[in-house]
Parts: sequence; C-alpha cells; structure tokens
Amino acid sequence: MAETPAPKKLFIKSYGCQMNVYDSERMADVLAPLGYVTTDQPDGADIVILNTCHIREKATEKVYSELGKIREMKEAMAQDGRGAMTIAVAGCVAQAEGAEIMRRQSAVDLVIGPQAYHQLPELIARTHRARGERLAADFAPEEKFDALAQTPRRPGGVTAFLTVQEGCDKFCTFCVVPYTRGGEWSRPVEDILTEARALAAQGVREVTLLGQNVNAYAGEHGLANLAGRLAEIPGLERIRYTTSHPRDMAEDLIAAHGEMSALMPYLHLPVQSGSDRILRAMNRGHSAKAYIDLVGRIRGARPDMALSSDFIVGFPGETEADFEATLELVRQVEYASAFTFKYSRRPGTPAATLAGQVDEAVKDERLARLNALLDNQQRAFNASKIGQTLPVLVERPGRHPGQVIGRSPYLQSVHFEAAESLIGQIVPVRIEAAAKMSLAGVLSNAAAVPEPA
Ligand code: SAH
Ligand code: SF4
Ligand code: F3S
Repeated sequence: MAETPAPKKLFIKSYGCQMNVYDSERMADVLAPLGYVTTDQPDGADIVILNTCHIREKATEKVYSELGKIREMKEAMAQDGRGAMTIAVAGCVAQAEGAEIMRRQSAVDLVIGPQAYHQLPELIARTHRARGERLAADFAPEEKFDALAQTPRRPGGVTAFLTVQEGCDKFCTFCVVPYTRGGEWSRPVEDILTEARALAAQGVREVTLLGQNVNAYAGEHGLANLAGRLAEIPGLERIRYTTSHPRDMAEDLIAAHGEMSALMPYLHLPVQSGSDRILRAMNRGHSAKAYIDLVGRIRGARPDMALSSDFIVGFPGETEADFEATLELVRQVEYASAFTFKYSRRPGTPAATLAGQVDEAVKDERLARLNALLDNQQRAFNASKIGQTLPVLVERPGRHPGQVIGRSPYLQSVHFEAAESLIGQIVPVRIEAAAKMSLAGVLSNAAAVPEPA
C-alpha cells in the first residue's frame, strides 16, 4: 500500500535539560525529509514523541501522566477514523526504564534512548509495518552524531543550541545522568565547526554549547580552544556554554573569559551545597572553599561575570548547620540566578539508600529560605544594571506591538521598543527598569556599544 501523502504531523514535547531541547530539534530534522511537519498539538498528530527526563521522581511521573492523556487522544482518533497515532518515548526515562514503559503504558509504540535518534525513521517505518522491534537504547554517541551530521539543521531563530559533549563520568551520588547518558564523550572539533558554520549561515548569531559536563570537552585542545575557533566564524557574535563542573574549569578557559569578547560573561557553575561534609557525601570532588576560590579566579579574569548554580536541599544527612553553610556560600558568591531542588531519591543511585533521609517538611522549609536569599540576589543583580547601556541581541517580537525582546550579555531578557527589522542585531539598550525575570529599557541613540570585555 502507498504511504499517505505529506504532510504528516509530528508533535514533540521536551522535558528536562537543554540537551533534550537540542535532541528534539534534531529528531524533527531527521523526520522532516519523510514529510513530517511539527505541530504544537498532540491531538491529531501522526507521531507523538515525549523526550523525557529522569532526573527527579516528579519529572518521571509527569511523563506517565502525560502518556495517559495522549493515550486517550490516540484512542479517540482511532475511533473517529482520524488515523493511527504512533507514540514514542525518547530521552532519559526511555534509557533508564526501557521496555518497562511499554508494560506500564501499552499505548506506547516505541521506546528510543538518547543515542539512537538517527534510527528514528527506520524504527518508525518498522513500527508501522509490524509492531515488532520497539526498543533502541544502546550507548553509541559517535554513531548518532555521525548519522545526524547528514541531516541539515533548520534553526528557527538567532540563537541556537549546539551539543559538543555528552555523558558524565562524575557519578555524583544523587544523580542518574551517568546511567541515562553514558560516559563522557566529545564531538570532534571539525564536526562542531561545520554545524556552527551552517547555523551562522542561517542567521544564528549566538550559540550555546551544550554538554552534561561541557567544560570537560576533550576534543583537540579543550573548550577554550573550541570557543576561539567558533568565534572566528563570520556572523557568530556570541558564545555561551553549559553546564560546567567546578572540577573541569581549566585555567585557559578562565583566561579566555578575560580575552575573548565573544565569550559571554555568564557562567552556570553548579555547586549543589556549601557544606564540605555534604559535598563529600555527594562525591562532588571539591570543597566549598575550592569553589569560592575558583569563583574568585573567574571574577579576576572577568570582573562582571554573572554566576548561576544548581542547589540541592535535604540531601541525606544534611543538618541545619550544613544548610547554613550553603546559605553562607550563596552570600559570599552572590548569584545572578539559580535553580534549586529538593533532594529526590533515585532508584539505583548510591544516595538513595543512605541513612538520614531528610523529612519533606524540612526540605520545604530549607528550599523556601534558600529561594528567598537567591531571589533577592537575582533582583539585586538585575537592578545593578539600571542606568547602564548594554549590548542586546534582539531575538523576537515582544508581547506588545512595537516591542522587541532580546538578551543582555548576562542572559537577562530585555524588552524595549524597536522595529522588528532589528531582530538578529546587537543594539545598545539603556536599562531603565528591572524585575526578577527581566529588564526593560530604551534603544540608545549612541553608536553601537561593543560587547563588554
Ligand atoms: N551536570 C549536569 C547536571 C544535570 S542534572 C548538568 O549540569 O547539566 C541538573 C541538576 O539537577 C543538578 O545540578 C542537580 O542540582 C539536580 N539534581 C540531580 N539529581 C537530583 C536528585 N536526585 N534530586 C534533586 N536534584 C537533583
Ligand atoms: Fe549528574 Fe554530577 Fe554528572 Fe552533573 S556532574 S550529570 S550532577 S553525576
Ligand atoms: Fe533530565 Fe536526562 Fe537531562 S535526566 S536533566 S533529560 S540528561
């Protein structure tokens, strides 16, 4: 029988980290040549892909509740003769739970781990033919990236993610990532440059290099060298990278922040805790002092560096004094933004079976105190930009007519009145107001300000 004519509808929903956002884009890219066009509605879609996250229990549970809803849509479509929906589960839950997903939710047709996305067209075709081979969850990042390199990217805007490194060998005792993404693996420099050149040619002005431990990038001479090569590409004005591990913050990378104007002064450098006892139990491989010293060196190279971090409260055995040490570290570092989490027990990780699991109520209370402190720091950081003229990369139209939204070097969202024709340009904006999540300003008449260096 002949295939149904194009276009077929593809719905992809991403959970978890930016790596998943990148992977979702790439899945859409590999399916585009087969006639799949993305839709923002799961109902009526020919293929629904949930690109899942396993990091905390809540993240995993969200997937199963979403699958329940999608199953109803699939059944309604079949009943109304609106076609057969194929449901695929991708990402870290797929890797961690594998075929178990299909046992828990029989409407799922396909389970595909993070290193198998290049096989999607084939797997989907097979699923259509027979409901046989439905599980692809090996670790082979090289194959994945080699195969995906044949597929052009279609970036939608002036900023884009670019995966340069995957996986993790750090084995923090709370974390599932080493099990869901496998060991550390770096893409070859030339592949990354090729992808970046293609992005720049399509109007991308800012790339964010992605990796679970991006500063452990081991291609040729490391991340600083890679950033330097990327900065030479015409059109690529700004380079960011995330997420960095404190243990992998090499001196040449720190120095590069003082020398390379394309490297943006914003660094996500998760510390998790400020207590040495807890850091040791987490297997983080650094003390609170080592982290604070590192921050000092980074700010020595780049005094206006905005820092952000992840924090976990209520790790097993965390006492009030341990938590106080975290607050103290936060006071010393002064963050521009942060993500905070209550410790979540993940089956199979060493911390899950530790004694001294902390009460939920205590976690809630600590989370609230930590958030209050970090919120104040974020507001203060944003407010400190009032009166300054910042170079803003214009990204998209704003909510109101005549307004545009862009990003400051410090990753703050900035809205101001200007023509949409400025999208893709870096323009000087005088900051006049600041809230927790964004800045407001006016387009400056002054000649374009250079990126701060
Ligand atoms: N190095 C990776 C970490 C990914 S996980 C990266 O930075 O992208 C993102 C954050 O989730 C971690 O930094 C940690 O703060 C949090 N996290 C990981 N496992 C967790 C758990 N079991 N409970 C609560 N938070 C967790
Ligand atoms: Fe998880 Fe730690 Fe690896 Fe980050 S460094 S992915 S927190 S094991
Ligand atoms: Fe989640 Fe996997 Fe990313 S567990 S945070 S989607 S690496």
